[in-house]
Amino acid sequence: MRNFVVAIDGPAGSGKSSISTIVSQRTGFTHVDTGAMFRAVTLYALENNIKLDDENAYGFLDDLKLIFKNDHTYLNGRDVSNEIRTDIITNNVSTVAKIARVREKMIEYERESAKEGLILMDGRDIGTVVLPNADLKVFLTASKEERAKRRLKENLERGIETTYEQVLEDIIARDYKDSHRAIAPLRCPEDAIVLDTTDLTIEQVVEKLIELIDRGMGNGRI
Ligand code: CDP
Repeated sequence: MRNFVVAIDGPAGSGKSSISTIVSQRTGFTHVDTGAMFRAVTLYALENNIKLDDENAYGFLDDLKLIFKNDHTYLNGRDVSNEIRTDIITNNVSTVAKIARVREKMIEYERESAKEGLILMDGRDIGTVVLPNADLKVFLTASKEERAKRRLKENLERGIETTYEQVLEDIIARDYKDSHRAIAPLRCPEDAIVLDTTDLTIEQVVEKLIELIDRGMGNGRI
């Protein structure tokens, strides 16, 4: 079986998940959305009144069953794909993501998921820490104003009422936390191709990524 691993990193709202979902559907790559897994751990912690910034409160991770399959996230067998996108999760996930035990559990799952086949994994530390030997590394970015506009539109479509100012503030705060944490902070891998999507449509970014994969696989066709 042919192996090819693509690592996609980038800040909040840069479009990693939506782009990766479409590209995986068109190419047959398996998408692994690592942000969704961190969100699922956050959901479990909030539901069980865990003190989020207490490293010792995460013993529950040993028994937690997390699965990301066909763009759905399962927490102990329950499909939590919608619940993990709510504001309360978005606003708390960066606190959970800096806990060493959480990152250790994730890295295990992430590396196991990328062991073989055609894999497209998106997150914050995939090209730098999780899969430093990925065949292709892409860093997706866009101006914070554009990312806030996109997130606002997404929220409206989901029936979540927020203002542009609030979303922008949340994005800036989360970017800061993600890039300044001690373990595996968000940064652009040195050997990544940077794609600034500020002025690009989703379709244009999808095409560009498929072109990069195609070229990387060296067969002119996926
Ligand atoms: O979709 P969005 O860009 O809002 O975020 P996400 O990809 O769902 O990731 C949610 C959060 O999980 C991030 O803000 C990070 O705090 C954390 N995360 C991480 O630390 N490492 C990863 N590889 C992926 C996500």
